[in-house]
Amino acid sequence: MSGVDAVVYDAREVVVGPDEAESDGTREGSDGGSALDVRERAAVVVDDGRVVRVGDTDAVTREYPPENADRSIDAAGQAVVPGFVDPHTHAVFAGDRSDEFAAKLRGKPYQEILAEGGGILRTVRSTREASDETLLANLLGHLDAMLDHGSTTVEVKSGYGLDTDTELRLLDAVRRADERHPVDVVPTFMGAHAVPEGQDGDDYVDRVVEDQIPAVADQGVAEFCDVFCEEDVFSVEQSRRVLEAGRAAGMTPKVHAEEFTHLGGAGLAADVDAASADHLLHASAEDARALAESDVVPVLLPGTAFGLGADYADPQPFREAGAPVALATDFNPNCFSRSQGFTATLACVEMGMTPADALLGVTRNAALSLSRDDGSGTLREGAPGDLVVLDAPSHVHVPYRFDGSPVDTVLKDGVVVRD
Ligand code: NIG
Ligand code: FE
Repeated sequence: MSGVDAVVYDAREVVVGPDEAESDGTREGSDGGSALDVRERAAVVVDDGRVVRVGDTDAVTREYPPENADRSIDAAGQAVVPGFVDPHTHAVFAGDRSDEFAAKLRGKPYQEILAEGGGILRTVRSTREASDETLLANLLGHLDAMLDHGSTTVEVKSGYGLDTDTELRLLDAVRRADERHPVDVVPTFMGAHAVPEGQDGDDYVDRVVEDQIPAVADQGVAEFCDVFCEEDVFSVEQSRRVLEAGRAAGMTPKVHAEEFTHLGGAGLAADVDAASADHLLHASAEDARALAESDVVPVLLPGTAFGLGADYADPQPFREAGAPVALATDFNPNCFSRSQGFTATLACVEMGMTPADALLGVTRNAALSLSRDDGSGTLREGAPGDLVVLDAPSHVHVPYRFDGSPVDTVLKDGVVVRD
């Protein structure tokens, strides 16, 4: 057989995904984390953008000789993992907030900065002033950095416009970036990211529901609708209005829930059958069970806690409830990390996750939080041909190394996009 897109062969290990034999996600005698399906001295074949074969190098290369492939990669001594999925970012914005970092170090709380018109509201001002070309160029630059760190699918939220015109401009930048950049960009509308300065919360929710959502739906430019359900931002009832209107307009709900306080965002996410509930620093065990029962994927964002100097979310109740715990960078001007490898490091060191759980968090579980259940985030046969060849002998190096990126080569849909 010949002419396939790519053959990656002789890898020291290929991480296919979760070990399907482990139905309860735990393994006797293990460290308590999930088991991975890891193949040693293995090869992966991609054709027509999809994984068509994964297995022992000798058997696979007999069937698919590397010299006949459009691209062959000798991965001797290296590990191959699924391309990382980053399911929660606010990567389309303009302006700089590094001075707020310094203020936070002096003890000024995030919410106080926001209440004084800084934080999100400050980024809104600089974003509204920026040209379409600047917004696109900024976003493309961030996607380059994310790809360098191994991400092949990235969700991007609007939410620094807070008016119909700017929210549409942001989602248009996301659409154009998706067309131009090898990374798959998943668009989320987040007009309910903050209440604009000088406006009343209920009045602004009217604007989101009556003006912004219909305009976004009319252009078909967002797959998800997210809301910042938080004390002094949007209440549970306001958030419900936004998410139900988004759902009626064809957008799947997502919720920023229980970040600074326990307000009820996780319960709301379960109620409205959201794809995910994100942050969850103050979620309870009851919340974890409600999410698991409703198939809402918990997305934890350790970089945010790291940047804020806050306590980390506890993954344990979600694991116990049987939910697939996803991890994301939350990249935004308040959390300047574009590396899912660093997210994995924090998840292990600060939240007690195992390297296997952290890897699933940035791959398969992250894909599930974006409602991708076509094998995305795995290297199972039939999955998208998105993979990372590490400059390292095992997947443990993803969280183990925090001085940079252990990424060597990245393939998107079977095509080398970073070498
Ligand atoms: O997820 N919490 C709300 N939104 C972002 C922060 C955005 C910002 O500070 O600009 C988050 O952390
Ligand atoms: Fe966020």
